Amino acid sequence: MTRSSAIDLGSDRLRIGPWRGDPSIAYISPVLGRAPRREAVDRCLVALREKGYRQVLTSALAAGEQEPFLAAGFEVHEALHLLHHDLAAVPRRSARDESRRGRRRDEPRVLAVDALAFDPFWRFDRTGLADARSATPVSRFRVADGDREQSVDGVSGYAVTGRAGTVGYLQRLAVHPRAQRRGIGEALVVDSLRWARRRGAHAVMVNTQVTNDRALRLYQRLGFVRETQGLAVLVCALDRSWV
Ligand SMILES: CC(C)(COP(=O)(O)OP(=O)(O)OC[C@H]1O[C@@H](n2cnc3c(N)ncnc32)[C@H](O)[C@@H]1OP(=O)(O)O)[C@@H](O)C(=O)NCCC(=O)NCCS
Repeated sequence: MTRSSAIDLGSDRLRIGPWRGDPSIAYISPVLGRAPRREAVDRCLVALREKGYRQVLTSALAAGEQEPFLAAGFEVHEALHLLHHDLAAVPRRSARDESRRGRRRDEPRVLAVDALAFDPFWRFDRTGLADARSATPVSRFRVADGDREQSVDGVSGYAVTGRAGTVGYLQRLAVHPRAQRRGIGEALVVDSLRWARRRGAHAVMVNTQVTNDRALRLYQRLGFVRETQGLAVLVCALDRSWV
């Protein structure tokens, strides 16, 4: 498994690695949650080009983080809604919640469910799942079991939630297409909110593609509120002569 690594460029720290294991597409993410300097982005692009990458995608960036990337030639690849839940009124644990702790041996089936639920661009490989679970100091990995016909060998859905300080992050949520519309997604989100609040979080954040009406409805129904400014995944080609 090729994990991402952090590189230090002066006062800036960027996490880089292959996008979903693709050796031609790189992934770049500011580590400290603030915009890097334009110069650091430029140096990073040169380094990625030297490593043989042909394209680079960013993590989901807030408006304030996007500027140096846009100035360096990145464009918007996908716009995302950003939502927050203030945890003041958390729904009761769902009667349909039969989720349990996810284990290492669940990972292949969880990734198979993920591949069925998401478009190829968003699909997780092992690195994506590992990065989501380790993106925050503490995280929760829940698996929903299901009937054979609506699952991959018994796994019908999963969620990864993280917490850093007093903020929780619903990092990933997926339900097997044949198990959807039965309340599994809701149960997993409610579990995530309740866990974050128990662990001292004051808010939970989540993002979703602007085209994902189903997820947006689910989050809003459970009390998430859409922020006025969303996020964006940016993309840059590395085979241009000026890079
Ligand atoms: C988004 C997603 C996780 C929702 O999972 P889900 O298990 O279908 O969610 P729920 O069943 O709790 O709710 C979905 C709908 O089913 C309805 N529903 C729930 N139980 C139901 C039941 N027993 N009978 C009929 N409808 C039901 C809900 O009211 C909701 O309706 P709405 O979309 O009209 O608001 C799922 O569609 C998915 O995996 N999508 C692809 C991956 C994805 O987008 N992940 C989130 C990215 S941020």
